[in-house]
Amino acid sequence: MTENPGRTESQATLDILILAAGLGTRMKSSRAKVLHKLGGRPLIAHVCRTAALLSPRRIYVIVGYQASDVRAAVEKEIGIDQAAFINQSEQRGTGDAVAAARSALDGAKSTVLILSGDVPLVRAETLRALLEKHHADKASCTMLTVRLENPAGYGRIARAEDSSFLKIVEQKDASVEERQIREINAGIYCFDSKKLFAALERVQPTNSQGEYYLTDVPGILRDDQEQVSVYQHPDAREVSGVNTRAELAEFENLLRRGTIRRLMLDGGVTFIDPSHAYISNEAEVGRDCVIHPDVHIEGKSVLGEGCEIYHGARITDSRLGNRVTVKDHCVIVDSDIADNCAVGPFAHLRMNARMEEHSVVGNFVEVKKSRLGRRTKSMHLTYLGDATIGEHTNIGAGTVTCNYDGKQKHPTVIEDHVRIGSDTMLVAPVRVGSGAVTAAGSVVTEDVPPHTLVAGVPAKVKKKLDEQ
Ligand code: UD1
Ligand code: CA
Repeated sequence: MTENPGRTESQATLDILILAAGLGTRMKSSRAKVLHKLGGRPLIAHVCRTAALLSPRRIYVIVGYQASDVRAAVEKEIGIDQAAFINQSEQRGTGDAVAAARSALDGAKSTVLILSGDVPLVRAETLRALLEKHHADKASCTMLTVRLENPAGYGRIARAEDSSFLKIVEQKDASVEERQIREINAGIYCFDSKKLFAALERVQPTNSQGEYYLTDVPGILRDDQEQVSVYQHPDAREVSGVNTRAELAEFENLLRRGTIRRLMLDGGVTFIDPSHAYISNEAEVGRDCVIHPDVHIEGKSVLGEGCEIYHGARITDSRLGNRVTVKDHCVIVDSDIADNCAVGPFAHLRMNARMEEHSVVGNFVEVKKSRLGRRTKSMHLTYLGDATIGEHTNIGAGTVTCNYDGKQKHPTVIEDHVRIGSDTMLVAPVRVGSGAVTAAGSVVTEDVPPHTLVAGVPAKVKKKLDEQ
């Protein structure tokens, strides 16, 4: 394991542990809670991204339920170098989860920051403040707490008469008086690694749930006269966890509203109805874009300036230039559209579809893995797959690139200034030379030389055309 350069002081070496082994019963799902998505990304991905911002030596993720999927989600977010995985085969409580990391961290002499995989909105600044207090107090343990109007369900922070920390009491083990306490444990802590693992050995599952509680550790340390500090955070929402689908929907709404507000106030984007627009917080939308209701802009999509996106369009991981119009009900995935293009209504672009400047795709046109050159148009009822199409070409209504022979995909090339007649079938692999014309209903099975008119089934050369 490599030490972080410039971090010689043992106290400053940071390891992060993320608890993510549980199913999350209250989600009523067969999928692990941390895999449920918020803003298009799994909950665990949010926590990992924030953790990585603190530049720890390593991020350990405790996995159990659907371990391989959780692992894949973590690796997708932060790569394979920074993450390490520890298996907790049976979920016997948060204390047991941390104990599973003993062999990895026992001799580490680091500060261990513990996070939950189901607390997605916590900010790096907040965690830095917690770590700062921990180091300033030279504490063995520092926990993050918040005050809640309704603390039901959370572990409560019991304090002594001098208001110093006493212990954490879980909801299910709390007395009637303890349940009145409004200050709760957010499940975010830092520990001196050595003290943490020594105290964990003494945790017993003698509670109403029969679980090993991590929350017993601060009390044990305090009884040993160790310094246990509390960092009270003012923003309860930021550090609250997702336990149910209703809470997940609330978080989604919060994130969504924040993104749209930022785009309106800082980005100069018009939303016809901000409460019915769904924009990923990773997307970029340029100034003077107009977004109509029920538009979804997902993933890392980028829209230039002055685009207008009409009702019901979905744009995923795609790039649009300036002044692009997307009419109602289009689906655009993994595609590139240059300046001044128009798409739709009801068009489908996918798998690296590319439209060069001023090109137009109209209704019921599907474009897959194909490129349309400048000022080329395909206005109606067409499938263009594996096709490379030049400039100033017109694709007639009902054209199909027959790209699949049942085994393999084949390319179609259509050069510049071509006119493809309505209902032409282009049986790939095939090339249509520049300036050529296919008559309506042609079935083109052979290459068409430049400046030639073809017609028929299969299409035959009828005549040579004049070059302009
Ligand atoms: C926990 C705390 C509680 C705190 C609350 C804050 C304990 C005993 N209680 O309760 O004081 O107020 O968080 O949100 O810690 N996990 C494992 N393995 C297990 C059990 C849990 O990895 O064996 C993981 C879960 O996947 C989850 C996290 O630990 O990501 C928290 O577990 P959860 O069951 O949600 O704890 P809470 O009941 O919310
Ligand atoms: Ca929880």
